[in-house]
Amino acid sequence: MEVIIQPDSQQASWLAARLIKKIIQEKPNAVLGLATGNTPLQLYKFLIKMHREEGLDFSQVRTFNLDEYVGLSPDHPASFHHYMWTNLFQHINIKPENVHIPDGLASDIPGYCQKYEEEIKAAGGIDIQILGLGTNGHIGFNEPSSSLSSRTRIKTLTDQTRKNNAVFFGGEENVPYHAITMGIGTILEARICLLMAFGRKKARAIAMAVEGPVTAMVPASALQLHPKAIILLDREAASELKNVDYYHWVYEHKPDWQKF
Ligand code: F6R
Repeated sequence: MEVIIQPDSQQASWLAARLIKKIIQEKPNAVLGLATGNTPLQLYKFLIKMHREEGLDFSQVRTFNLDEYVGLSPDHPASFHHYMWTNLFQHINIKPENVHIPDGLASDIPGYCQKYEEEIKAAGGIDIQILGLGTNGHIGFNEPSSSLSSRTRIKTLTDQTRKNNAVFFGGEENVPYHAITMGIGTILEARICLLMAFGRKKARAIAMAVEGPVTAMVPASALQLHPKAIILLDREAASELKNVDYYHWVYEHKPDWQKF
């Protein structure tokens, strides 16, 4: 795991945008795995800026989102479809047919999830998967106790996750109980996993995921098994890590060819 600690979320998001830009420049039809939530919002703003000001070209890029609420139509304001189009896709030159977001209205959910997995494979796999972190250690909507080899499937949200997202639904009573999410096994197959976490409220989950044991009770800890997992933090999210000096030391001595 490579743990990179930046002074604030802006600088961390800028680094993430630079890495994605590098990947797209090296492979114009790169496959991006995307996340929603507060964490990647600034990253998406930087990608839009790079598209507008530096000509970053998304015309061949393919995307697969991690998850979507079950029962929400794509035009529901709290759906991840709506989030992705509003916060990124409508501002860049991506082709709608290259965008994949789980369908919250799928009638045969197991069949649909199988098809989503097949589409990822057919695209050649995910080059970089962006991940946020739940305060309970979830990635995607793989809540604690999710199998570390799980594939795309339906999951029941925890009470805490529903509370955390209540603000987007105008009250907890409106938050769906289920989501379709890529599994942890699906996520671990991405060539690079980039987990971003910002703010004091993520510090505990980060400490458990990065320096605790690999356990299904902290789904993000599965990233310890990934050959190229980058954990990108601001100072607050890193505040409960023990090995901070070493993480800074590694970053300062990164060989030039590894920099982004
Ligand atoms: C979103 C997702 C979730 C979020 C996580 C953190 O697609 O899969 O795992 O990344 O809940 O959410 P924020 O970024 O809002 O703190």
